Amino acid sequence: MLRTVTATSYLTPLREGGSLPGLVEADDDGMYVVKFRGAGQGTASLVAEVIVGELSRRLGVRVPELVRITIDGRMARLEPDEEVQELLNVSAGENLGMDFLPGSFGYDGMHWQPPARDAATVRWIDAFTANIDRTWRNPNLLIWHRNLWAIDHGAALVFQHAWPPVERWAARRYDLSEHILAPVADQLSREELDALDAELAARVTPELLGEVLGLVPGDWLLSMNSAIGDDRDADAWRARYQEYLLARLGERTNWRPETAQVKS
Ligand SMILES: Nc1ncnc2c1ncn2[C@@H]1O[C@H](COP(=O)(O)OP(=O)(O)OP(=O)(O)O)[C@@H](O)[C@H]1O
Ligand SMILES: [Mg+2]
Repeated sequence: MLRTVTATSYLTPLREGGSLPGLVEADDDGMYVVKFRGAGQGTASLVAEVIVGELSRRLGVRVPELVRITIDGRMARLEPDEEVQELLNVSAGENLGMDFLPGSFGYDGMHWQPPARDAATVRWIDAFTANIDRTWRNPNLLIWHRNLWAIDHGAALVFQHAWPPVERWAARRYDLSEHILAPVADQLSREELDALDAELAARVTPELLGEVLGLVPGDWLLSMNSAIGDDRDADAWRARYQEYLLARLGERTNWRPETAQVKS
């Protein structure tokens, strides 16, 4: 289970974020970057954050701790900004919190380099999960204590906005031409990239995916705006994600970074 905390005060919006994430303090004295269930894409992007964030963590990528953070709708009353007030109002209940990394700064691909293997691992997972948000314009990577940390996986798993069929998405190529880690990842030799691909693919077992999908709150799955909106069974949703991810893994010659470079 993801840890659950309760929000005690809303500190400030993170204006650069498209979905108006906010910095929130919780009852464990921690500070969290919160993705609100009432924002733009709804709970589907929270679902993607958990699936891709926790999968990444299990494949060796540094991801700040993810928690379920309970927001009391009454918090909105204390908020002067109308936009924030509205967001808190429609986000009462469980939201996604990510441990705030104090003193971190954004990776820009220029002043510091992560190990090539770390970069290639993040790129492989981005291709696997069709994450469109790791470009030069929108890197979503932090440097903290001289390590690379991956954040913001809300736009991954694009297929979830257009279920089913699984086949339509599983083999889809992935445009890596703008991927910010490509120059570092490509410092590995072809043999090293092949070995990494084989290693990562072998680690993505049905058991591992089951463990990750088990971390997604059922309520978020059932609150998604979806074409199959009348489905009231969270485990049926988890099985659908599992089916998709395993199918995509099986199609990896089509999307693997080294074999599927697509120029846009
Ligand atoms: N855990 C964290 N620790 C420190 N800073 C963070 C953390 N998470 C996010 N931030 C900062 O907040 C910004 C917005 O966060 P994030 O990218 O997750 O939100 P978003 O709304 O999905 O953004 P966008 O749509 O612009 O990509 C990040 O670019 C980063 O500067
Ligand atoms: Mg972002």
